[in-house]
Amino acid sequence: MRPTFMAAVFAMAAALPVCASANGEVNLYSYRQGFLIEPILAEFTKQTGINVNLVFAKKGIVEKIKAAGANNPADAVLTVDIGRLDALAQAGLLQPVTSPALNIIPSAYRHEDGLWYGLTTRARVVYAHKDRVPEGAINNVADLADAKWRGKLCTRSGKHVYNVGLIASVIAHHGEAEAEQWLRGVKANLARKPQGNDRAQAKGIYEGVCDIAIANHYYMGKMATNEKKPEQQEWAKVIRVTFLDQDGVGQHVNLSGAGVIKGAKNKDNAVRLIEFLASPEAQHMYATNNFEYPVRPGIKTDPYIESFGSFKADSLPLSAIAKHRKEASKLVDKLKFNEGADG
Ligand SMILES: [Fe+2]
Repeated sequence: MRPTFMAAVFAMAAALPVCASANGEVNLYSYRQGFLIEPILAEFTKQTGINVNLVFAKKGIVEKIKAAGANNPADAVLTVDIGRLDALAQAGLLQPVTSPALNIIPSAYRHEDGLWYGLTTRARVVYAHKDRVPEGAINNVADLADAKWRGKLCTRSGKHVYNVGLIASVIAHHGEAEAEQWLRGVKANLARKPQGNDRAQAKGIYEGVCDIAIANHYYMGKMATNEKKPEQQEWAKVIRVTFLDQDGVGQHVNLSGAGVIKGAKNKDNAVRLIEFLASPEAQHMYATNNFEYPVRPGIKTDPYIESFGSFKADSLPLSAIAKHRKEASKLVDKLKFNEGADG
C-alpha cells in the first residue's frame, strides 16, 4: 500500500466515529481457513473502516457464482491454489484489476490482464526420511518416477488440486506424452493407494510406510509447531525437505491468490482489500501464521521455513501451467493413478 494512501486512511479513521461499516463493505468468498485469514481481515477493517463479510467456500464456487448471475453477492474471491483462480478466470467470472500497488507482485504470480493476483507461494516439495534416504538421492520431479523408489512413495489423491498443479507443470515443461510416461513411473512407485492429506504422507514416512512423499512445504511448519497434536512434531522431526529441479527449471510452486468478481457491487473495496493483502503487513502475517512464502519481495519467511534453505522457483508463469490442469486431471483418470501401483 502506498504511504500516501495509508496516511489518508489513517486520517479518515481518526476523523470518523468508531463504526466498522463507515466505509462500506466487501463480500469475500474464501477457500482459506478462518484462523489464518480472520486476523488479517480484522486488521484491514481496523485500518480502512471497510467491513468484510466472509463466506467460506468449499466446492462449486464457479457454479454458485454462475448460477447467481447478476444477483451474485460476492465481490472478491480468495483461493489457496492456482487451479481455482484459473477456473474462475476461464469461466469469465473475474474482472481485470489494475493497481500500481499490486505491480509489486512478480509477473509470474499474477494474471497478465489482472484477473487474479497471487498472494503467497507454496512449494510442492519432496519430504524424505532423514536416515533412510541419503541426502542428494532425489533431486528432480523426474526422479519421482525412478524405479529405485518402487514401493517407497506416498502421496495424496492425484486428483487433488495440489497434485493436478504439479502434473500440469510437468505437461507444461515436457509435453503430454512425456508427462504420461512420468506419471506411470510415479504410480508404479506408490507404497499405497493415494489417500489422506499432505500431513498423512508425513505420518506415512514416520511410520515406515514410505520413504519419500510429495507435499507442500508449509505443512512442515504446521506440524513442527503443532501443540494440539504433538505427535505431528515427531513426524516433522524425521523429515528432510528437498527442493526440486534446482539445476533445471526450478521448484514447482502453487499460489494462493485473489480476484475481483465481474459485476462486483463493491469493486473499489475489493481492490483495496487485495492491495492490503499484498501489503508488507499482511504479507508478514501470511509468512508467520501459515509458513508460506510471501509474493512481495523483501518480506521475511518464517525462521523454521528459512532453515530449509533458499530455492529457485519455476519461472514459468502460473497461468501457463494452469492451462494444462484439465489434461493433468484426465491423465490421472486414464492411468488409474488413485488405484495405486497395482491398480
Ligand atoms: Fe494446504
